[in-house]
Amino acid sequence: MSVEVIPSGCDVGAEIKGLDLTKPLLGEEVAAVERAFVDHTVLIFREQPLTDRQFADFSGQFGPLRVHIQKAFQHPEIPEIVYNRNVDADGKFDEVGASRGVTRDLKYGWHSDTSYEEVPSMATSVHALEVPSSGGNTCFASGYRAYESLSDDFKVRLEGLRGEYALGKNRKNAQTQTLTGKLPDEAKNRDTVFHPIICRHPVTQRPAIYANPLQTTRVLDVGDAESEDILETLFEAIHLAGTTGGHWEHEWQVADTIIWENRGGVFHSGRMDYPLDERRIMIRCTIGGGPIEMYAAA
Ligand SMILES: [Fe+2]
Repeated sequence: MSVEVIPSGCDVGAEIKGLDLTKPLLGEEVAAVERAFVDHTVLIFREQPLTDRQFADFSGQFGPLRVHIQKAFQHPEIPEIVYNRNVDADGKFDEVGASRGVTRDLKYGWHSDTSYEEVPSMATSVHALEVPSSGGNTCFASGYRAYESLSDDFKVRLEGLRGEYALGKNRKNAQTQTLTGKLPDEAKNRDTVFHPIICRHPVTQRPAIYANPLQTTRVLDVGDAESEDILETLFEAIHLAGTTGGHWEHEWQVADTIIWENRGGVFHSGRMDYPLDERRIMIRCTIGGGPIEMYAAA
């Protein structure tokens, strides 16, 4: 069976068919998935229930798996897996767990995973174990489109700028502070990191907004007011790319697997709009990594 790539028709997203995710992929199949990943930034594999081990093994074919800083949600046997689950061990609603992967405020929820790391992960993979009867979708916004929507003058103003990135310190989205609620102390007190505001995708070489409203706290080397002005303009552009034309929203089904890009090109934000007495449980890996490259106009 050959790999079939079915584009979503949106700025981002393609469904991949023709693979059995429970078994090791052939080298040519991995290469086909990697090509589709660069082209579409978000890949969806449907209707393939995976054991936790199968999910980790599948993810690990695209790069070394990372171990997440959020130990409270770590898988008991496979440290490379973390849970995004909205219930605790007693089955009660867990606000911190529920806030991993979804937000009540979509506009200030857009992000690339692990941008608060010195070397962010290249990609994230998620496999759905239990989903609510409605809502809880994950939304995707093209970082390329968001950058292209900026005025030429504004793009010039952004050249060479870097920003500060941190986990759970967003002043505008109080829910981000919830995310640090169960972090170990060393993770809570970790240093902030610095990345470009506008990145160049390492493969496509295309410019994209990298600053994100969930994890970017300020622009370096400018005054507070200018930092605020720049970030608000960028966040508005991301939100427009994620809500008007070209955007894509995934309605999860049990046994869906998604891989999304973290090196620029796409942002994601989940909706906490589902019945909170219903279970939403996903397992997640983060894959590979590399420094975020600064985009410089020729
Ligand atoms: Fe995320």
